[in-house]
Amino acid sequence: MPSASSANRFEILPSNLPTAENIRESVLQNPGFGRYFTDHMAHVRWTVDADWHGHQVRPYGPLTLDPAAAVLHYGQEIFEGIKAYRHEDGSVWTFRPEKNAERLRRSARRLALPELSDEDFIGSIQALLAQDHAWVPTPKSDADECSLYLRPFMIASEAFLGVRPSHEVDYYVIASPAASYFKGGISPVSIWLSSTYKRAAAGGTGFAKCGGNYAASLAAQKEAEGHGCGQVAFLDAAENKWIEELGGMNLFFVYKDGRLVTPRLTDTILEGVTRNSVLTLAKDMGLTPEERPISIDEWREGAANGEISEVFACGTAAVITPVGELVTENERIRAQGESTEVAMRIRKTLLDIQYGRSEDKHGWLTRLV
Ligand code: COI
Repeated sequence: MPSASSANRFEILPSNLPTAENIRESVLQNPGFGRYFTDHMAHVRWTVDADWHGHQVRPYGPLTLDPAAAVLHYGQEIFEGIKAYRHEDGSVWTFRPEKNAERLRRSARRLALPELSDEDFIGSIQALLAQDHAWVPTPKSDADECSLYLRPFMIASEAFLGVRPSHEVDYYVIASPAASYFKGGISPVSIWLSSTYKRAAAGGTGFAKCGGNYAASLAAQKEAEGHGCGQVAFLDAAENKWIEELGGMNLFFVYKDGRLVTPRLTDTILEGVTRNSVLTLAKDMGLTPEERPISIDEWREGAANGEISEVFACGTAAVITPVGELVTENERIRAQGESTEVAMRIRKTLLDIQYGRSEDKHGWLTRLV
């Protein structure tokens, strides 16, 4: 079903200096993650008096911000992550953009920012892709997860140092060709369990996708890297017992009896679009999804007695990545046996839908170009 879009409201200001084709092609051969950006960006402005206006696609480039802009002082900022996929016939599609639009509004309410409509969210992506579709990489095989990663974000741009919601806000979408998020591709990632830091507490911003949550996770991420781990897992702040998420990814536990367990959503966990899709696909595949609290003891015991056969992380950027082990100050908990079979099966099912290789039974794809 086509999603409502305001793409035709965007004024197009084309770049005078687009990237040369041979340079773009060499970037697309090996884009890494988040390093290279396309030639344009979408922009919509909001003011307390004029609501959303000034829809534009204009050349990618530095922003001019007053040094007193509220975002620089009080972090009033939110963002999204969503991808554009090239199908075999050359067409370009995105995945469940209404879910991201809805989450952006949820984040906006928590950060006292204005809410952007589905039409403008999807319109901004469509208008940007109409200019920059040549930057969407073509997968080299069915296992290749290359895409154009889109980063919509919203910032408080009013020059005012009083602490109150900004009266001026800017929304942008930038785009970056991407290969796999982890340098090692889909090899199992080691996870550090932080005992020093917490990511979120009840009543806070954990469920919102705001820069502050990610800033607060960086010291823990540094600690993880110091212990040879690629990611950090956070426990709840109240009891230091319940598994929450990885900061930028949700966690799933595969039980050998066919249950697939993920922490239930609370206001301290970010609802991932991939998480939500995995729950649906798991059911289609005959697994039994369960959203419920899961404790670190259940992980430890389930890994030791073989009840838990696999653990994986998922997110838009990470897709689905098996977890190899959980590392703490005094133990290493193997996340799984030799198998990553269920994780890889769900991953393939998801990628096949996203790249148009299998039927889109749930109506999750929206055509961009
Ligand atoms: C995403 O998966 O899109 C995110 O925003 C996570 C980030 C760590 C790249």
